Amino acid sequence: MEEDFEMDDSNSVSAPEDGSISINNVRKDYRIGKNSVTIFSDLTMTIRGGDFVAIVGPSGSGKSTLLNLIGGIDRPDAGDINFGHVRIGRMSESALTKWRGANVGFVFQFYNLMPMLTAEQNVELPLLLTSLTGRQRRERVETILSLVGLTDRRKHLPSELSGGQQQRVGIARALAGDPKLLLCDEPTGDLDRDSAEDVLAMLRILNKDLCKTIVMVTHDDTAARSAKRVLRLDKGRFVEREAA
Ligand SMILES: Nc1ncnc2c1ncn2[C@@H]1O[C@H](COP(=O)(O)OP(=O)(O)OP(=O)(O)O)[C@@H](O)[C@H]1O
Ligand SMILES: [Mg+2]
Repeated sequence: MEEDFEMDDSNSVSAPEDGSISINNVRKDYRIGKNSVTIFSDLTMTIRGGDFVAIVGPSGSGKSTLLNLIGGIDRPDAGDINFGHVRIGRMSESALTKWRGANVGFVFQFYNLMPMLTAEQNVELPLLLTSLTGRQRRERVETILSLVGLTDRRKHLPSELSGGQQQRVGIARALAGDPKLLLCDEPTGDLDRDSAEDVLAMLRILNKDLCKTIVMVTHDDTAARSAKRVLRLDKGRFVEREAA
């Protein structure tokens, strides 16, 4: 049974690095020429650090927009988004880029891998922006590819991998910087049932064992059942549904 989502949780006091996200009275408009479309006029919600939240809702309801706001790719027109005690909506562009690199991993429906780079080079890519040495980068990549079960495919190009394997590379790349937060936009949307289940099992492990906070947009009820909470976004507001 659906019930109105209790908007804020004043009992959840969060340490800065605990990975909690609070979205306070956020407004987001898109302007195209003289026209403006309001996606959210007053959106408020809290996601605790270590949670695994699925966001469902009709096409066009603003799910991807919300992930982009949480991940600091886009900015709200009004209101605040906080990650722990860090107000990400107010950061300078360069501070935001740095923050994103250290704190957020993105996983996309169509993987977004670089086609001319091998699996290990794709995973290493975000690390080129860090101060890690070549050797440290290679060790990190090796560990992560082993975590996602792709050590034997590390020299393969994306075109030489199945969809499920490409998505595991996508997850490995998202994990490269050891972020607290994983934002996944329909991560199983392009996969068959078995590959989707592998990816979901991996996300559950990352949440449970490595304490990653996961926000996953999905159209897939089975995928949503992997989450601890399901939020339905519709007409600019949230309705919470108990995870099955
Ligand atoms: N860059 C943009 N400029 C203008 N309008 C945009 C832009 N990005 C998204 N929109 C509009 O904002 C609304 C929400 O888009 P969004 O991509 O967030 O929806 P969604 O819930 O992720 O949909 P889907 O399930 O189809 O992926 C849509 O009406 C879309 O047309
Ligand atoms: Mg979308």
